[in-house]
Amino acid sequence: MKKVNSKMIVLMLTLGFVLIGCGGGNSDTPNDSISKEESSGYQESSGDEAAGGGSNIPYLRQNHSNYTEYGSNMTPTPVKDPNAMSINWTIEAKTEYDATQLADHIRYMVGKLESGQNPRAWDKLFLMEAYMKVNHLYTTQVDQSGRTVVISKNAIDSCAFSVISAHSDAVSGDFFAQGNIMNDYSAIAESILNSSFCDARRVDIVNYISQRQRQRGMK
Ligand code: HEM
Repeated sequence: MKKVNSKMIVLMLTLGFVLIGCGGGNSDTPNDSISKEESSGYQESSGDEAAGGGSNIPYLRQNHSNYTEYGSNMTPTPVKDPNAMSINWTIEAKTEYDATQLADHIRYMVGKLESGQNPRAWDKLFLMEAYMKVNHLYTTQVDQSGRTVVISKNAIDSCAFSVISAHSDAVSGDFFAQGNIMNDYSAIAESILNSSFCDARRVDIVNYISQRQRQRGMK
């Protein structure tokens, strides 16, 4: 009898640990399932990225110099057309694998945004972009052919265009040029938010941000 009781205690303890480890059920924050690395923007991942199934951010960061403007050795740069409110990239990767890592990153991020998640939720620029995506204020198209990745983003108003434009500057100037993902673009986001371009949406965007913004380093 004594033996059975101790076995049962061990079983219950094990079950308890398993439940705690899984998170114990549903969670309702808008940042669910965003990895610490995406949320903080600077932590290395040890998860599915290495297998190609995730954001691929550590790979892109470490191999940022494997990407150039198509047909040149220059850092990839977005081609912007403010009248058409479009941003186009034509990027050449060193290998097809590099191209796939990049294309998969963008598709993965589009999926996150479309499903209402907020990568890097401490950074207002990324929150503003997430707002624009869930409200269908811009589209993202990604096409890969061998080592070439073509990205096309189209906004439907000037507020959304300013946001995707600022994001593309960060991608070019910090991410591709230096592999630097540490900077906080919230001040740029604030100035866009306070511009007349965003008059009609300001209240809505401020609410969106205040409901979702997280402290840096926190999920
Ligand atoms: C903090 C780490 C990063 C986060 C949270 C992040 C997140 C995102 C998000 C949310 C998008 C927009 C998807 C859309 O259009 O809807 C995006 C696009 C993109 N990312 Fe990243 N990314 C990170 C790091 C990187 C790095 C290191 C590179 C390359 C070295 C990179 C290259 C790109 C490119 C080329 C695009 C598409 C162009 C554009 O949006 O203008 N990203 N990323």
